[in-house]
Amino acid sequence: MSVLVACLAPLPVHAQAPADLAAAPGDVLYQASCANCHGAGGRGADPALLAFEEEVPDFTDCDFAAREPDADWIAVAHEGGPVRGFSEMMPAFRGALTPEQLQRVMEYIRTLCTDSDWPRGELNLPRPLVTGKAYLEDEWVVSAGFPVDGTGTGTAEFVYEKRFGPRSQWEVAIPYQWERGEHGGGRRGRLGEVEIGVKHAVFHGFESGSIVSVSGDLHFPASSAPEAAEPGEHTQPNGASVGAFLHVGQLLGEASFLHGQTGARVPLHEEGQLRAYGRIVLGRSFTSGQWGRAWSPMVEVVASRALGSDDAEASADVVPQLQVALNTRQHVLANVGVLVPATAREGRHVRLVAYVLLEWFDGGFWEGW
Ligand code: HEC
Repeated sequence: MSVLVACLAPLPVHAQAPADLAAAPGDVLYQASCANCHGAGGRGADPALLAFEEEVPDFTDCDFAAREPDADWIAVAHEGGPVRGFSEMMPAFRGALTPEQLQRVMEYIRTLCTDSDWPRGELNLPRPLVTGKAYLEDEWVVSAGFPVDGTGTGTAEFVYEKRFGPRSQWEVAIPYQWERGEHGGGRRGRLGEVEIGVKHAVFHGFESGSIVSVSGDLHFPASSAPEAAEPGEHTQPNGASVGAFLHVGQLLGEASFLHGQTGARVPLHEEGQLRAYGRIVLGRSFTSGQWGRAWSPMVEVVASRALGSDDAEASADVVPQLQVALNTRQHVLANVGVLVPATAREGRHVRLVAYVLLEWFDGGFWEGW
């Protein structure tokens, strides 16, 4: 009876759920509190019956639903759409449903996407500055790095990543670098090695909090780079190469996480060097208040070693950093850190490194502030 009343009630300005639903299971709570806008089946109610223009999301669409972590959805349902930069037509249920009840509703909503091949958004760990992630992204990233003492090489990079299918992604990265002239004079810039890569998640488990991916990429010198700059100066960095990597993401409890990446880069020309890489990242996410902005300090250790030659040099860097969500929707993020050479320090500088990224699937850059 009370369910019927809730369904027939006019659209809520202040969300309400009947009091005797306190112990009800998620599907009953959903039908009583959410279905009149989100539809009994989760695809959204008939727009003709809704008193607002906003599009209601389709909870049965795995491509959309799987990538959104429960915590964000519970925040939206508890605090209302504006807490994540959505419309206020998505009402706040804080007066009607407890976070615990909303968790039950989420568990029901999760059953509406019936294809478990899509990795859950909880496994989308904060992106480190250097180490590649195991999670698949619809993202662009602009990053830059330069020596803090103003000498040496400055670098910038544009990365574009796009998912295809439940567990795959392709990406392209376009680096640019510039060097200070011999006597501190003018800077000379050029495109670095362009990268094209694909990544595929071979395993993901929501229960175990883990995701494992393999990736392959091709690096090739951009044709517009100068043949030979001037006598004595760099020409191409290294020439074409292929890389193969294994990526691991692991949640450690509620808020801590670990990334690991290992792999090798094989040159496609004679003078190039075979290099092996090992990278590990430990981090933890904090939120300001219960529903607020996410902050994720991380420490990264990145090492690489040339293989196969007599003077096989190796180097390791430590990269303390802080990632922070810039906007309310939390799909525009920035990360700032310092890359500190830990071994083979000679000629290597402490670098300031940073990126800004947009998870473009969640909206444009200027949406959700
Ligand atoms: C009065 C209508 C209405 C009711 C009732 C309602 N919603 Fe919504 N909801 C919306 C609208 C409209 C949006 C889209 C807002 C936007 O895109 O700006 C939305 C969006 C959402 C989103 C955000 C999805 C995303 O894009 O990340 C979640 C989660 C959500 N609703 C959960 C719920 C839950 C859970 C309930 C019931 C407890 C509920 N809603 C009840 C109208 C409603």
